[in-house]
Amino acid sequence: MSKLNSEQWSQFWDKNTLTTFHGHFEGNYDGEIKQFWFELFAQTNPNLKIVDLASGNGALALLIEEFNQLNSRGHKISAVDFADIKVNEATEGSESLTKLKNNINFYSNTNIENTGFDDNSFDMAISQFGFEYADHEKAFNEVDRILNDTGRVAFIMHISESVIIKQAFEALEQIRVCNRTGLIETVGLILARLDKLPKNAKDDVADKLKKDINKQLSFLTEQMKKYAEPTHIQFFIDMLSRFFAQEASLMTLEEKQQTLENLKVEIKKYKERMLDLKSAALDKEGLLKLNRLAESKNYKLRLVQPIYYNKNLFGVTFVADKIKAS
Ligand SMILES: C[S@@+](CC[C@H](N)C(=O)[O-])C[C@H]1O[C@@H](n2cnc3c(N)ncnc32)[C@H](O)[C@@H]1O
Repeated sequence: MSKLNSEQWSQFWDKNTLTTFHGHFEGNYDGEIKQFWFELFAQTNPNLKIVDLASGNGALALLIEEFNQLNSRGHKISAVDFADIKVNEATEGSESLTKLKNNINFYSNTNIENTGFDDNSFDMAISQFGFEYADHEKAFNEVDRILNDTGRVAFIMHISESVIIKQAFEALEQIRVCNRTGLIETVGLILARLDKLPKNAKDDVADKLKKDINKQLSFLTEQMKKYAEPTHIQFFIDMLSRFFAQEASLMTLEEKQQTLENLKVEIKKYKERMLDLKSAALDKEGLLKLNRLAESKNYKLRLVQPIYYNKNLFGVTFVADKIKAS
């Protein structure tokens, strides 16, 4: 298992993004994702107490609050996450998001497996790419405890066949290819070597390192042809090329070494997040297990089906209603 802990997620939300999908959405979730939630909420009673599980910086909570305001509903939303969430920073600069945010109660540092809320506190538990990151049984038991007798759960979750997980696999493969070249280390060696030499001096060691670097760069350029979107290899090449550009001549060796170190850390963090994503995604067996768990707790499954975004399989919806024990 390669799960990110709350501290690692806190560091991620420090970047002040609203969702984890940079580039997919402009601001908050839109398209079929937004439509799913708006259609679901169009059918509910007007004044629900809702808990958003593993809310991150509040993307889903903000979407439901937007529905609230557009449709004059009085749903009260509590958003829970075990990370230190940065919703103020993520919504800064947007008047509309800031207005929405002010109506939501955010609970940082709160594990969805053990929220501390009273029994029967909520009418509905929602989650978007969040619930599946926790231990399913513990989190479902907790949700069941804090939901009232006729409560509903409504999640969108990652599944192994989705385009997101395919991209995660590709990203991991490209990172592996880059790391295997040892280019970061070779660049570190040549920077240190060149720093000791007078400008334009002839040096066999530096020449050999230059040759190695060029060989590895050609190898990576070849590898890029294998991918429809070789984003990570391209990023890797671009970042390392900067050390040999004009602007780098103004940097000290220590600054260059620190920049190289930062690059290593960024790549490592990204890799860990992709591994976490892969392990959170439900496969067929995992989804079946969750269905059985819900049914064993007297929930009636309503909408367990794939959800698409821009014609790509994006995840699975899971809507289930608690049936009051007679
Ligand atoms: C992919 S993000 C999704 C955030 C948000 N729901 C969204 O759609 O943008 C997953 C979130 O789950 C949170 N998380 C993971 N395990 C958790 C747990 N056991 N309790 C609470 N939050 C958890 C992480 O901190 C992270 O913010």
